[in-house]
Amino acid sequence: MRMVLFNKILIVLLILAGTSVFLSGANASENSCIDCHKTLTPFIEEQKRFNQIRIQHLERDASCSLECHEDRIRQLATANYQQWQESLHAVKGVTCEACHGGDPKQATKEKAHVNFKNNTDPQSPVYYTNVPKTCGKCHPKELDNFENSTHFKKLESLELAPTCTTCHHPHTFTVLNPEDFRNSCGNCHSVYKKVAPYDIPLKAEDMLRKVNKLKFNIENAREDIFWAKKNGTDVGQAEKYTDNALKTYQDLAPMWHEFNLTHFEDVIDSANAEIKKAEDIVKPKPLPTRTESAQVPGFIGLTGLISLIAVFYILRKK
Ligand code: HEC
Ligand code: HEC
Ligand code: HEC
Ligand code: HEC
Ligand code: HEC
Repeated sequence: MRMVLFNKILIVLLILAGTSVFLSGANASENSCIDCHKTLTPFIEEQKRFNQIRIQHLERDASCSLECHEDRIRQLATANYQQWQESLHAVKGVTCEACHGGDPKQATKEKAHVNFKNNTDPQSPVYYTNVPKTCGKCHPKELDNFENSTHFKKLESLELAPTCTTCHHPHTFTVLNPEDFRNSCGNCHSVYKKVAPYDIPLKAEDMLRKVNKLKFNIENAREDIFWAKKNGTDVGQAEKYTDNALKTYQDLAPMWHEFNLTHFEDVIDSANAEIKKAEDIVKPKPLPTRTESAQVPGFIGLTGLISLIAVFYILRKK
């Protein structure tokens, strides 16, 4: 009885798969990797395997693990194409062969996969020690900086070290948020994993917050320049300072990949110093603020009076 039901499900799935192959064939793109892999996942091969596992489990009355397998297999099956599809790479037309090689003009798997190496093969462009070079074709600044890092040296000597895809997960290739650092950097930099320095995750988080603050400061300065210009102030020099800071800001992301946090912080500080110089020119001269006029003159007045009396007293003594 159960077997009959599953055979039916299998047939429905195969029909679904067939339709999706047909539909994608109808509006084929120029790239066979995309065409084929789009239809390949998750319907056909993985779904068949999934159903086999389900059937085996059911035969042994082990229904409890169905969900685990379903999740795992769906994850494997959908990961590559689905994740890539939502990435900036997909938007910018960086297709599979840009990293994997192969020939996207060929329609059959065998011909398209020409010269393919598995990712566990040290000759593969996506073997973890080759990943920096593969990405560096299009991200040369990140590669240059990364090659200067301790991470890269450790990677080259085949020790535990991150490669590009440790932090920019395939195939979403997103940029980490500061909040992600605790987990990501902490995978190695923690007392448990014993890769010093242990305070890296917090330091890195703090550093990227500083980057965001700098961005905020630059935007503020530009706003102040805008208004100062309207009020007839000569803003030429202030604009130069702000442009310097902006240029530094744009270099920060590539420079980050050197993983020299002290140098990184110094550079942020120097950009903030430029912003300060710009603000000194354009920021409306601070009128005595309400809090100041309430407290500070009162205090100064009092000390002034006391010193006057003191001077008077000393003079009288003489
Ligand atoms: C006609 C269908 C088809 C085309 C075209 C195709 N692939 Fe595949 N690809 C597959 C199948 C099926 C698999 C599953 C593993 C297997 O059976 O080799 C696969 C596996 C892979 C793998 C895993 C590595 C491996 O060897 O198992 C990568 C990476 C890959 N393809 C990339 C590409 C790229 C890049 C292109 C274009 C240059 C491409 N594919 C074109 C069907 C295709
Ligand atoms: C920007 C580079 C890049 C692009 C684009 C890319 N991949 Fe990958 N892919 C990688 C890297 C790097 C790995 C190795 C990940 C690892 O080892 O953890 C990988 C791993 C894989 C794997 C499993 C490992 C293997 O080689 O057997 C498959 C399958 C795969 N990619 C398919 C695809 C498909 C299909 C596309 C297009 C839809 C694609 N990739 C686009 C970089 C890329
Ligand atoms: C064929 C060129 C090419 C290759 C190879 C390539 N990229 Fe990209 N990558 C791009 C383009 C184009 C963008 C869009 C941003 C831009 O224009 O700089 C981008 C953006 C990114 C971003 C920013 C994503 C975001 O959401 O802001 C990351 C991170 C990234 N790539 C990592 C990688 C990694 C890691 C690899 C290697 C596995 C790689 N790239 C390989 C071309 C490439
Ligand atoms: C240890 C983690 C880590 C490694 C390894 C790493 N990155 Fe990054 N990457 C980051 C973080 C964090 C950012 C965001 C930096 C920022 O916002 O200032 C980033 C930003 C980027 C960006 C976006 C730059 C921009 O202008 O917005 C690209 C592209 C990129 N990385 C590519 C690479 C490449 C290529 C490699 C390997 C050569 C690599 N990354 C290795 C963590 C890493
Ligand atoms: C896969 C493991 C791994 C991950 C993940 C990792 N690191 Fe590292 N990191 C290392 C190793 C190994 C060293 C070298 C430690 C030593 O000197 O023995 C290191 C060293 C460093 C150093 C010191 C560099 C120097 O020149 O002394 C900094 C800074 C650093 N990592 C930052 C980061 C940041 C930030 C992240 C997360 C975005 C990160 N690391 C993620 C393995 C890792």
